[in-house]
Amino acid sequence: MVYTTALVAALLAALPVNAGLYPKSSKVIQVDGKSYDRLIAQSNYTSIVEFYAPWCGHCKNLQPAYEKAAINLQGLAKVAAVDCDEESNKAFCGQMGVQGFPTLKIVKPGKTPGKPIVEDYQGARTAKGIVDAVIEKIPNNVKRVEDKNLEAWLEESNETAKAILFTDKGKTSALLKSIAIDFKGSINVAQIRENQKASVELFGISKFPTLLLLPGGKEAEGIVYEGEMKKEPMIEFLSQAATPNPDPAPAKVKLPKSKSKDAKKTKAKESFESASKSHASAEGKTDKATATEETLVEEATESPSPEVETEKPVDLPIPAPPIAILETETELQAECLGSRTGTCILALLPASPDEIAATAVGSLSEIAHRHKQHQRKLFPFYVLPEKNAGYKQIKDALALTDMAIIAINGRRGWWRAIPLAGDKISDKDVTEEAIENWVDSIRLGEGAKQKLPEGLIPEEPEETATEAAEATETVTEQAPETTETVHVEEIKVEEKTEQKPIDDHDEL
Ligand SMILES: *[C@@H]1O[C@H](CO)[C@@H](O)[C@H](O)[C@H]1NC(C)=O
Ligand SMILES: *[C@@H]1O[C@H](CO)[C@@H](O)[C@H](O)[C@H]1NC(C)=O
Repeated sequence: MVYTTALVAALLAALPVNAGLYPKSSKVIQVDGKSYDRLIAQSNYTSIVEFYAPWCGHCKNLQPAYEKAAINLQGLAKVAAVDCDEESNKAFCGQMGVQGFPTLKIVKPGKTPGKPIVEDYQGARTAKGIVDAVIEKIPNNVKRVEDKNLEAWLEESNETAKAILFTDKGKTSALLKSIAIDFKGSINVAQIRENQKASVELFGISKFPTLLLLPGGKEAEGIVYEGEMKKEPMIEFLSQAATPNPDPAPAKVKLPKSKSKDAKKTKAKESFESASKSHASAEGKTDKATATEETLVEEATESPSPEVETEKPVDLPIPAPPIAILETETELQAECLGSRTGTCILALLPASPDEIAATAVGSLSEIAHRHKQHQRKLFPFYVLPEKNAGYKQIKDALALTDMAIIAINGRRGWWRAIPLAGDKISDKDVTEEAIENWVDSIRLGEGAKQKLPEGLIPEEPEETATEAAEATETVTEQAPETTETVHVEEIKVEEKTEQKPIDDHDEL
């Protein structure tokens, strides 16, 4: 069962239809009057934005070059487009001073967050022309450090993690600049030239380029990066010291008692926003990167060679996106409540979630993301919002509290709830660690499962005879009086014969 495809399709179907020039699969980000602020104006990245009309001939002519620029700038800058022919975008295009199509504007972060510097791009309408112009405007947060100011740089914000690229290049590459943007505020990034002998010697650097991470901000604890000079693995390496900034920033939504600003909770809020407004975000694609060694070793002002770059697309790990939401009863049935669906983790979410609910969803998002990053398979996690009719159905059938986290397996007919420390779910029950331990116990087939009450899962007419027969045999040995359904018998079989990881691999 390909649950993700079905879900993604369902989510995409809920998005506004865009008949514009750029298909959904395009690397060009579709922006409108509403999303511009969050996706572009608030970003720490430089963007280029094309204002176009689908009928305009010059816009159509530009499209292939613009697509190519988007591919070459992945991970380095954002390439976006606004369809000014859309009724809802007309006022916005007017505000942006658009008078003809296409109009291209480069949007560079200013000193004040959310107040970018916007300039018209008047250069050649070629991929190279656009890429060069945009690369030149990538904010440079990389400090060039020399022997004489190394000590001072290390001392300044002495407890902030630091990353140093030792290089034989004089200029700062677009790749290193983009890394400094991803970790702006959490890792100070510098570059030191090979000819700075004292610094090179101090850290024992013998080859160039070498990336060094000082997680504690001080020289004693340096970790040398051994991987390829590509954005994705470099980001992953640096992530041991700090979490990269999510871009776009998570949407802000009012939670009843939200005082915490930590990343986990903001992610949870984003889930809530989607849950309450029933729209999904397809913004993940802005976080991908094709930045490669070529970009790193090139001077900032030279454009990366498009041909070389496009050969090696690399997907940048996306900072924990919120887990998917089951909007409708049909989705719930298809993903988790079918007679053939495997293990699902469901977070039942009341209409006005509290801090505990926020933490729970944040923890689940982190766990799911971490597994995905390490390409470890894991059963799917979903938010089941109160507005989904299935919420009440499950809550009543299993006698759950408003906020609950359960594992459910339709095919095997069992469920488990997260064990509670007290009567009610508390913040201790929903930490990342607590949930991960619980998830692990399910993966390992440990812990008691409960039988799903009748009626929750539709009857499965095609249950194979052998499966049922085997199950019955085993059960009758230890529970001769059983008149229960096949489902119960299967549970017992599973618990008796399988001490190893749970037998859900087929649908993971
Ligand atoms: C960082 O600097 C401050 C002020 O100079 C000092 O009090 C503190 O001990 C330093 N921390 C470390 C870990 O060196
Ligand atoms: C931008 O950088 C600041 C640190 O200066 C960081 O706190 C914020 O999360 C970043 N925003 C985005 C959207 O990456």
